[in-house]
Amino acid sequence: MTTQYPDLKGARVLVTGASGGLGAAMARAFGAQGARVVVHYRTRAEGAAQTALAVAEAGGEAVKLRADLRSEAAIERLVDDAWQQWDGLDVVVNNAGVVLKAAILDAGSRWWDDVLNVNLRAPYLLSRRVAARMIDAGIRGTILHNSSIHARRSTRYFSAYAASKAALEMLASVQALEWAEHGIRVNCVAPGVVPVERTATALAEAEELWRPHIPLGRYGRPEEIAELTLFLASEASGWTTGQSYVADGGMLARIDMPRRPRPPLPPEPDLIEDD
Ligand SMILES: NC(=O)c1ccc[n+]([C@@H]2O[C@H](COP(=O)([O-])OP(=O)(O)OC[C@H]3O[C@@H](n4cnc5c(N)ncnc54)[C@H](OP(=O)(O)O)[C@@H]3O)[C@@H](O)[C@H]2O)c1
Repeated sequence: MTTQYPDLKGARVLVTGASGGLGAAMARAFGAQGARVVVHYRTRAEGAAQTALAVAEAGGEAVKLRADLRSEAAIERLVDDAWQQWDGLDVVVNNAGVVLKAAILDAGSRWWDDVLNVNLRAPYLLSRRVAARMIDAGIRGTILHNSSIHARRSTRYFSAYAASKAALEMLASVQALEWAEHGIRVNCVAPGVVPVERTATALAEAEELWRPHIPLGRYGRPEEIAELTLFLASEASGWTTGQSYVADGGMLARIDMPRRPRPPLPPEPDLIEDD
């Protein structure tokens, strides 16, 4: 069930990386609000077409636009074309991202630059172009970034990815400060483990390994991340800016200790003595 946010009806939305995975779910969820959505993609044109169809079937409108977000010129064209498409933008979700799993001693600058370019530089460049236009047009818009639990806890072999997401969260909070006077809010969603097309098979095979680490006992669903995104995009969160919201089934709430048997209850505390 998707919560309805009346202010998102007709909203002009850009979701980057919406050719599959979380971005596609977000685009569909905006569609179900009656929003007008630019579905951005890079390589999966067919996936983007399916997302656009799903947006329309859900009750919204959609167009798809292609851009390699490692290129500043391509980012500028994407923003300009998206802006022109709906004559403005109210909501931008910087969702596109790449994951790199590699040891620091193995992966050099080429890998580092690729991850940082997509996950951090692109949201920086895209947001500043959008915010400048919003400010000019007097649009009190919302900018969202897709972060990760990796922004908060270190994990071996995720150095570039984790660094990019931690920096993205700090970028969001600085953007929030700089743009608050214009009524532009900036927040992050930080998902835990959510199977998408790219990871579904491997995660299905590893489910029993993961389960003990997720207090709610299951992986997340893209729709659950989309639901949080809608809330942060809508006026329902109108007093919230500069923050990052984790949806991870409780993973970050626990200290990673071995499971132990339920401890015996210690002796009953003394009774409080009344004076
Ligand atoms: N799924 C999770 O468990 C999880 C958890 C935490 C955070 N996240 C974050 O969620 C976001 C979406 O990831 P996902 O899991 O849904 O994976 P995904 O299905 O692989 O989606 C990644 C998206 O990013 C786009 N993209 C990648 N490189 C690009 C580039 N150079 N230029 C433009 N677009 C590019 C891809 O476009 P094409 O496919 O069209 O090339 C794709 O649409 C990422 O930022 C990721 O870090 C995911």
